[in-house]
Amino acid sequence: MTYLFSLMVMNGLIVLILVLLILIKRYIAVYDDYSVTINGDMEITVHGGQTIVSSLTQSKIFLPSACGGKGTCGLCQVKVVEGLTDPLSIEEAVLPYKDIIEGKRLGCQTKVRGDMKIEVPEEYLSVKEYRGSISNIVTLTHDINRFDIDLIEPKEIDFKSGQYVVVEPIPGETRAYSIASIRRRREKISLEVKKIPNGICSTYLHALKEKDELNFYGPYGDFYLRKNDHKVVCVAGGVGLAPMKSIIDEVINEHQGRRVELYYGARTIDDMYDYEKYISMTGKHENFKFYPALSEVEEVLHHPTGFVFDTGFINNEIASKLKNGDDCEAYLCGPPVMIDFSIQTLRDKGVPEERIFYDKF
Ligand SMILES: Cc1cc2nc3c(=O)[nH]c(=O)nc-3n(C[C@H](O)[C@H](O)[C@H](O)COP(=O)(O)OP(=O)(O)OC[C@H]3O[C@@H](n4cnc5c(N)ncnc54)[C@H](O)[C@@H]3O)c2cc1C
Ligand code: FES
Repeated sequence: MTYLFSLMVMNGLIVLILVLLILIKRYIAVYDDYSVTINGDMEITVHGGQTIVSSLTQSKIFLPSACGGKGTCGLCQVKVVEGLTDPLSIEEAVLPYKDIIEGKRLGCQTKVRGDMKIEVPEEYLSVKEYRGSISNIVTLTHDINRFDIDLIEPKEIDFKSGQYVVVEPIPGETRAYSIASIRRRREKISLEVKKIPNGICSTYLHALKEKDELNFYGPYGDFYLRKNDHKVVCVAGGVGLAPMKSIIDEVINEHQGRRVELYYGARTIDDMYDYEKYISMTGKHENFKFYPALSEVEEVLHHPTGFVFDTGFINNEIASKLKNGDDCEAYLCGPPVMIDFSIQTLRDKGVPEERIFYDKF
């Protein structure tokens, strides 16, 4: 009887140990160090189990992120050439099927579980981490502030007009903000931030004060002014005006004779900012035209200078004012719906597809 009991206890213990081993293997995986080769020629050693984003960050390679690694912005994508694993459902929701098939994955979701070879856009390899101090805060509208940031380290930034930086106001919470200052001024940048109700980072940024410090990475983005002779059509919705500052400045001051038109849409005049500056520029620069439109007002608004703010959506303004679309190049920034409608209008006007660039947010 005692023998039978001991045998049962022994068997029970063996089963328990086996179950524990299976659970440990499944949930508490023990990883080795692995090699990750980037763009065929750079190799880093990574302790397994981390995401590609955090592994690369440790080697000072900063992939862009506008969602703090939540898998929603899609900016951190990389191409996995070797060591590809099945996509997660969150990746399938964000990445087009053809990209998934080609081996594209979200760097913030895919973990290093063995040796890997990946490809990232070459320009990410020169992205730097910056620390700056807020030197000035300007209230632009009831919910948009401009932050002027003096660079502390490194002391200068080189960017293309229209590009963005990734700000990390709270550790681990990263968001993208377009550079709203001219690229000739390299020792400081400005950001224009709209406060989103319950928005983690925009609320935090709006609570900052002068002399507070901020960390950011950059510059990033394909949304930048191309150098050629085409007329530049800027289409901005709300805080989407931010990257147009540097684009317009560069066209006027560095591209001699090049024409630029700004189509700027907002709900009401209270949601618009800097329009006085653009009205006065129309008088000073014959190559610059400004077409503002307000979508939630009933009647056309007459500025004291005689300048007119039309009513309606900005795509209607483009439809009625833009001439000869085929010699244009368009840069759009603002809410997704505004951009989609405006792109359609630009296509209808004959602007070639490959000359339409945009940042939606
Ligand atoms: C390339 C790029 C450039 C950008 N440039 C700028 C810029 O120059 N200025 C700027 O203000 N923002 C810009 N953004 C948006 C910015 O990165 C953040 O998404 C935004 O500030 C909201 O962050 P949050 O942490 O405050 O909100 P979160 O905490 O991330 O979001 C809170 C909630 O608000 C919703 N939400 C997010 N954005 C909006 C919105 N616009 N309107 C209504 N609801 C929203 C979210 O879906 C979520 O439910 C840019 C984004 C990209 C991708
Ligand atoms: S999807 Fe936003 S950081 Fe990865």
